[in-house]
Amino acid sequence: MRFFIDTANLEEIRAAAEMGLVDGVTTNPSLLAKEGRNPIEIFREICQIVDGPVSAEVGSTEYDGMMAEAHKLAEIHPNIVIKIPMTLDGLRAVRTLSEEGIKTNQTLCFSPSQAILSAKAGATYVSPFVGRLDDISSGGMDLIGQIITIYDNYDFETQVLVASIRHPMHLVEAALMGADVATIPYKVITQLIKHPLTDIGLQRFVDDWNTVKDLVQF
Ligand code: E4P
Repeated sequence: MRFFIDTANLEEIRAAAEMGLVDGVTTNPSLLAKEGRNPIEIFREICQIVDGPVSAEVGSTEYDGMMAEAHKLAEIHPNIVIKIPMTLDGLRAVRTLSEEGIKTNQTLCFSPSQAILSAKAGATYVSPFVGRLDDISSGGMDLIGQIITIYDNYDFETQVLVASIRHPMHLVEAALMGADVATIPYKVITQLIKHPLTDIGLQRFVDDWNTVKDLVQF
């Protein structure tokens, strides 16, 4: 399973990359707006830090605008993946970009039928948003299971990129289902390691070691 980090914050990306936990990065317009800087500069800097796919989203909602932006974004670095929303124009753009050999990530996927269309269009990744489905009392992780089954049934090559992850169990369930990629906010990455028994056990080992450590010379 590959881990992408879901942020446009360079400090978070650097910190997670130092832990060896970043195979790629996803951004979106809301994450970029939080940084308040030129998005193109941010993409360039991310590509210097991470050697892996970096999703950069188009802002246009019409096919021609999407294609023009996609071509500009793709020029930034070979690792840039063009993120395109789940609309009819978006599907058309995904198909054209796929024919041009440009990698795509179809975003805002909330149903299995949408995921089928992304695969048919040749998307490199599809991003089902599990947290936002949970927010409206719909099973986000059920959608992941359905998409994986459908893609397996037909050997579709589009990779399932689990997005809108809100807590560690989203990641664990995605791993149990065999999702290709999870894009994880920095906060959740740091939560993955937490366990109270680890903290209690470590404290006990440290205390016990302190009773004998003076007998040892390293
Ligand atoms: C995915 O690519 C999106 O950037 C992101 O996962 C959305 O997460 P949110 O629902 O927490 O905003």
